[in-house]
Amino acid sequence: MKQLRTIVVGLGRIGWPFHVPEVAAHDGFDLVGVVDPLPERRKEALERFDAPGFPDLASSLEAASPDLVVIASPTPFHAEQAIASMEAGCDVFCDKPMAASLAEADQMVEAARRHKRKLMLYQPTRGLPDVLVLRRILDTGLIGPVYMIKNARTSYTRRNDWQALQQHGGGMLNNYGAHFIDVCLYVAASQATRVTCRLNTIASSGDADDVVKVLIETASGVLIDIDINMAAAHPIEPRWHVLGKHGSLIYQEGGWHARYFDPDALPGLDLSQAETLAADERRYGSGETIPWQEKVFAADEDKLNYYDYCHAYFAGDEEPFVSLDESRELMRVLDECRRDAASTSASG
Ligand SMILES: NC(=O)c1ccc[n+]([C@@H]2O[C@H](COP(=O)([O-])OP(=O)(O)OC[C@H]3O[C@@H](n4cnc5c(N)ncnc54)[C@H](O)[C@@H]3O)[C@@H](O)[C@H]2O)c1
Repeated sequence: MKQLRTIVVGLGRIGWPFHVPEVAAHDGFDLVGVVDPLPERRKEALERFDAPGFPDLASSLEAASPDLVVIASPTPFHAEQAIASMEAGCDVFCDKPMAASLAEADQMVEAARRHKRKLMLYQPTRGLPDVLVLRRILDTGLIGPVYMIKNARTSYTRRNDWQALQQHGGGMLNNYGAHFIDVCLYVAASQATRVTCRLNTIASSGDADDVVKVLIETASGVLIDIDINMAAAHPIEPRWHVLGKHGSLIYQEGGWHARYFDPDALPGLDLSQAETLAADERRYGSGETIPWQEKVFAADEDKLNYYDYCHAYFAGDEEPFVSLDESRELMRVLDECRRDAASTSASG
């Protein structure tokens, strides 16, 4: 198996427990260095993974000559580090969100084009068992054409780290929005045509948003309704609710619960009585009994091994698991969210 000389930039909450051990354990990657300004974190990497540490990206590019740079530094560094890596002839695997703004993301796309380098984003939510199983169920047509997807992530969490501040590209739109907007568009398999968003700061001690409400209309006619709320004493439930013409799916306790009917088992409705302008038997609805069926699908698939897909893309000729067009589109939607939220708060 071709081994990619790889460095990991940023040894924090995602770099240290996820990217570094994944790279170190995978036969297709050779961990040739790590980058972090904190000396104690570099020392830890040397002791545990025998990986030389560098205080900055430039010195690692020069000394370690990597094929691939994994960027897991704070969001404001993503664009400059990705561009510098591609300029140095490396491919880039970058954690979400791609950058702090659409303009920066466009500079990254342009650098990839100019230097003919590969650039892929880490969007792990797409590879989680709930999403893998959901996509399988929807492919069977069980609930008919999907018209609405609701997704809610809630807790009461007072933040005081860099992600609590706007100046560092913080906020839950950038943080969780980059996961859940992406995954809802992925499930809808369509592009956003209209975006409405409200951003609020309630429990966080910083100035970045911790309450996010997003409505997205897609080209295929699906309405996506997302709540990201870090100031909710009670959870907004269920986490997922996917509604189709012939049924719906909710995600609870590790499984998808389907309630649906077979449209072929239901006779068509007679509309002739609607001509009289006096509802039959003063009844609301047709009075029919829908032959509901219930089924539970365990979300028991293994989560997707992202670094296998990384290797297939960066070392081989496979298509990326997340295309650059999709990542740019996500950044456009995040930008639309900020724009819509700012215009409403300005007019209010
Ligand atoms: N995909 C996911 O599920 C997921 C989860 C968490 C974080 N993230 C993303 O990963 C990125 C890092 O977030 P985190 O939560 O790990 O942050 P963190 O605060 O836990 O860690 C950041 C690390 O980067 C180091 N660092 C600071 N400046 C640096 C620089 N200029 N160059 C290299 N390293 C630098 C810090 O010393 C620290 O070790 C963010 O963009 C975040 O959105 C993604």
